[in-house]
Amino acid sequence: MNYRKLGRTDIDVSVICQGCWSLVSDDFNWGHNDLQDSIAAIEASLDAGVNFFDTAEGYGDGESEEILARALGGRSKEVVIATKCSRGNLAPDDIREHCEASLRRLKRDTIDLYQIHWPRPDIPVAESMGAMEQLRDEGKVRAIGVSNFGVSYMQDLQRAGRAESNQLCYSLLWRPIEHAVGPMCVENDWSILCYSPIAQGLLTGKFASVDEIPDKRVRTRLFSSQRPNTSHGEPGCEHEMFDAIARIREISESLGQPMGNVSMAWLLAQPGVGSVIVGGRNPGQARQNAAAGDLALDEEVVDQLSEATEPVKQAVGTNCDMWEHENRMEKPGHVQ
Ligand SMILES: NC(=O)c1ccc[n+]([C@@H]2O[C@H](COP(=O)([O-])OP(=O)(O)OC[C@H]3O[C@@H](n4cnc5c(N)ncnc54)[C@H](OP(=O)(O)O)[C@@H]3O)[C@@H](O)[C@H]2O)c1
Repeated sequence: MNYRKLGRTDIDVSVICQGCWSLVSDDFNWGHNDLQDSIAAIEASLDAGVNFFDTAEGYGDGESEEILARALGGRSKEVVIATKCSRGNLAPDDIREHCEASLRRLKRDTIDLYQIHWPRPDIPVAESMGAMEQLRDEGKVRAIGVSNFGVSYMQDLQRAGRAESNQLCYSLLWRPIEHAVGPMCVENDWSILCYSPIAQGLLTGKFASVDEIPDKRVRTRLFSSQRPNTSHGEPGCEHEMFDAIARIREISESLGQPMGNVSMAWLLAQPGVGSVIVGGRNPGQARQNAAAGDLALDEEVVDQLSEATEPVKQAVGTNCDMWEHENRMEKPGHVQ
């Protein structure tokens, strides 16, 4: 396992982070996960050298944080825990209350990385940042991060203070951050923490057609708005996506590596990426995902993979929001 510094801090995080969203007992997107599998996934990640865990108060209404604390037990002090304050709780007093509730569920005195989950147009970033900085000054938070912040919200934040990371959807099938948000993170030393790095399972190659993908995962702008769970109203790019998956499979087979791991290694070769947050739901998946932390791709292979997904990149355009036509990651009125 390799480790990288988080932003400008002295915190070392493993390049593979265990994501804890799909470890809850019942979730709208993911359905049921068995508690023993969830605990064993976290233990397997730890044993494979993963020291970075990402959760949120919003995952299972706090259940994900509780499961993480339970699985880590006495090893909690050895790891870096990132959690998030939900979009609904960004008023300064709410942030304090919700941070303290997360600390109780995590059975910790400190959250290593406290993140704003999504920006909110009606609460100035400066107000939320004031509360986050106070928590950091009191030692309840070690570092401040954000998630789903586009350029306009990042600019507001920079006028107010400093964040160390931006957690963004980024994978071979989802590359809009490459246009503006990613370069801005690089320029300012914000670590990019990539979520949905295997496109919610698509990049493992286990789905041969859209019909095989669980319904709730067929919601993003990759899929046609004719699909029942979408709300973006766009045509999607299903053909380009499956062509790209076929090419990634070929490249991965020639390397003798699982497609998901090749996809994560490609991310780790991109500028500014600090860690890849992947949601293994059982110990087998977690062990396999952690192995991507030791996989380095030749430059030529990185270029071949970029080329394979260029048509998907063109089709989804510059909007970084995976689910909606109107980009919720930028302030209303921001021109991309
Ligand atoms: N900040 C945000 O707004 C945001 C949004 C989304 C996610 N996240 C974070 O990022 C983490 C990961 O993202 P994600 O869960 O959306 O997507 P992901 O990591 O791309 O995909 C996870 C899903 O893929 C399947 N999978 C995982 N490892 C596998 C393997 N080795 N082989 C085959 N299938 C495998 C599992 O589902 P099945 O086994 O059921 O197929 C799993 O639930 C989350 O846990 C969360 O911490 C953050």
